[in-house]
Amino acid sequence: MARKTLGERLRPLLSPSPRRSVLFLVGVGGVLGIVAMVGFNYSMAVTSTDAFCVSCHEMYEHPYAQLQKTSHFNNVTGIQATCADCHLPQEFGPKMLRKIEAAREVWGSLTGIIDTPEKYAAHLPVMRAREIARLRANDSQECRNCHAPERWLTAMQSVKAQKYHAARELNEKTCIDCHSGIAHPKAASKVARMTFTTADTPAATKEDSGQ
Ligand code: HEC
Ligand code: HEC
Ligand code: HEC
Ligand code: HEC
Repeated sequence: MARKTLGERLRPLLSPSPRRSVLFLVGVGGVLGIVAMVGFNYSMAVTSTDAFCVSCHEMYEHPYAQLQKTSHFNNVTGIQATCADCHLPQEFGPKMLRKIEAAREVWGSLTGIIDTPEKYAAHLPVMRAREIARLRANDSQECRNCHAPERWLTAMQSVKAQKYHAARELNEKTCIDCHSGIAHPKAASKVARMTFTTADTPAATKEDSGQ
């Protein structure tokens, strides 16, 4: 039998199967597409859970243990902020970019960049500064996903909050400039003191003062 030419070999791949209907092939394609989509959504969801983050971030100065002491974990209304709520953008583009950027975190854990208390302490300022810079650059978007100033009943906020939340202040500063440390209070007091320089500086967040 004569050998098949390249064109003959490729034909089954390039033209519809003589044995299967077009509808059948479209159906198979559709099913594969759905499987891929479900798989993608599933992997996005799994890699956004607290359990996933904590599987690595169960380190010294444990961010989860810190979070549990704050009002973002337990509060009157029972609304909870997860790691991803504050650290992972919700919009598709920025979310994908942050997931790709997380390659640094995988590399960091492979190379043990924060695997002893000493290394963690040494690297903490770098990590903190990077996250603060990220929130500064996006105008604290992740905070705003839950806290919308345009719906604030400002008159019901504390006197101090009303003063600092005046339109002028909010135009000049973003949430993270004043509220750094809300979720990881142990690391916070220093940063909070640095950002408030006026006489009535709130020295620390409520959690820091142990209230
Ligand atoms: C594979 C282990 C691992 C997982 C899973 C992981 N992290 Fe990390 N993370 C790290 C390491 C290591 C660093 C330090 C990386 C560096 O600075 O080189 C880090 C750094 C960070 C930082 C500091 C800021 C920055 O950009 O470096 C934040 C915030 C953070 N992780 C949040 C999270 C959240 C939220 C999750 C879950 C969605 C998560 N991490 C999942 C290992 C991990
Ligand atoms: C998932 C929604 C959610 C996200 C995201 C979120 N918060 Fe909150 N925040 C809450 C809830 C719920 C409370 C508690 C309200 C209460 O005490 O009843 C709260 C309380 C607060 C308080 C007052 C109590 C305190 O801890 O001092 C501040 C300030 C605050 N958030 C700022 C922020 C900032 C800044 C960010 C972004 C880094 C942020 N929040 C992200 C939901 C959220
Ligand atoms: C110029 C500094 C400043 C900026 C910018 C700022 N805040 Fe505040 N915020 C404060 C101060 C000060 C308080 C009062 C803290 C206290 O009472 O201990 C406060 C209180 C709060 C509270 C608690 C209100 C209450 O009375 O219980 C929430 C929630 C809050 N801020 C969220 C935000 C969010 C979200 C943003 C960004 C849109 C933001 N803040 C921007 C300084 C600021
Ligand atoms: C309410 C918002 C919020 C939640 C929820 C939250 N974080 Fe953070 N996180 C921050 C902010 C803001 C920073 C920037 C530094 C600061 O202000 O303390 C930060 C900083 C970090 C850093 C850098 C090191 C440090 O301590 O500053 C890591 C790592 C981190 N978070 C991990 C986590 C993990 C893991 C979870 C879930 C268990 C989590 N965070 C939950 C807001 C949050």
